[in-house]
Amino acid sequence: MAARHPGERDGNDRWGEDWPSLRDQWALDPDVAHLNHGSFGAVPLPVRAGQEAIRAELDANPMRFLRRELPHRLARAREEAARFCGADPRGFSFLPNIMTGVDTVLAGVGLRAGDEVLLTDHAYGAVRLAAHRACARTGATVRTVALGLDAGDEERVDSVVAGVTGRTRLAIVAHTTSSALVLPVARIVAALRLCGVTVLVDAAHAPGTTDADADALGADFWLGAFHKWVCAPHGTAGLVVAPYWRARLRPLVTGWEIGEGYPVSFAVTGTVDPTGQLAVPLAIRFLESLGTRRVRAHNQRLAAYGAEVVSEALGTSGDRPRGPFHSMTLVPLPARARLDTPAAKALQDRIAAELATEVSVTARDGRGWMRLSAHVYNAPAQYERLAEAAWQVRRWL
Ligand SMILES: Cc1ncc(COP(=O)(O)O)c(C=O)c1O
Repeated sequence: MAARHPGERDGNDRWGEDWPSLRDQWALDPDVAHLNHGSFGAVPLPVRAGQEAIRAELDANPMRFLRRELPHRLARAREEAARFCGADPRGFSFLPNIMTGVDTVLAGVGLRAGDEVLLTDHAYGAVRLAAHRACARTGATVRTVALGLDAGDEERVDSVVAGVTGRTRLAIVAHTTSSALVLPVARIVAALRLCGVTVLVDAAHAPGTTDADADALGADFWLGAFHKWVCAPHGTAGLVVAPYWRARLRPLVTGWEIGEGYPVSFAVTGTVDPTGQLAVPLAIRFLESLGTRRVRAHNQRLAAYGAEVVSEALGTSGDRPRGPFHSMTLVPLPARARLDTPAAKALQDRIAAELATEVSVTARDGRGWMRLSAHVYNAPAQYERLAEAAWQVRRWL
């Protein structure tokens, strides 16, 4: 076994005795504590090997693979991925990422001058930019409702509904926000549907952290990533489309099957590397072999522990938002230091460079926040080590 980062020497009693062999399933640099799974995930070695085997088949005969086999192989992968997300395969298509899906939906709902796109103040930054771009193109406007950090579910549902007007054409709501909050998405979708609003659920973090019951939510559109918590290869996400929209939605890129209707029209849009999508079932099976619920419970407990020790060391445990959180948590940085986004990113880079620890640092209303993720390859000692270095983080603020 490779030499371990000091933080990993003691193993992980929260997972169990088999943790060292489990940790070895990831190629992650043992000298770095990767506490930011939420941004880009991390691909386990068996999944990577499976993808490489698929790529070898492609390279051995591109005509056979791409022309004759790909549609069937993609359809099979799509079925498995849809099942994992609680979606009817007839409503499910792969996409390279969440943002492709957001742009597809923004282009597909027929925005017109005077319309409004409803967002929350926890919308992912690029989602906000995409909404503004679509509005600039069409004459629509963006309306943002504030959810804050500490409201209860009831209040959050009411805040979203209060943002609905007669002009609301589309609402985009995250399930788990990039600020780590888990929103009462089922209640929000139900309330928006009662108002007659078309809803897109940004469930980027849902697959692998929740029961991703896409169809049960009843949203018009649902987007989930496989390259985050399912640990699939990068460039893998899923779009679930409600029956009404299937005949109406078009992919952003035109392929030969554009006239075939959803989801075939989305399956092969020109020549791209399909091996990541084809490897999604391998990632799902890998996760299921560990026990999906066991993984989720572990990650949630470890992330909560991480937030506890780090916030205590920073002296901010009294300011911790109450959540709820799943596999990511949010640690407040000391309030005395006002932080803007460039300063937050500089701090994130400094923590990476000097503490060999990857976290996400963001600024909200002038205050800094550190987002900590936990997956099964993480160990309690990695968070403890960050806590021991809290005095340095405070100095850098
Ligand atoms: C809530 C949320 N939405 C959307 C995205 C964008 O996902 P992608 O990079 O797959 O487009 C992210 C990425 O971190 C996210 O956290």
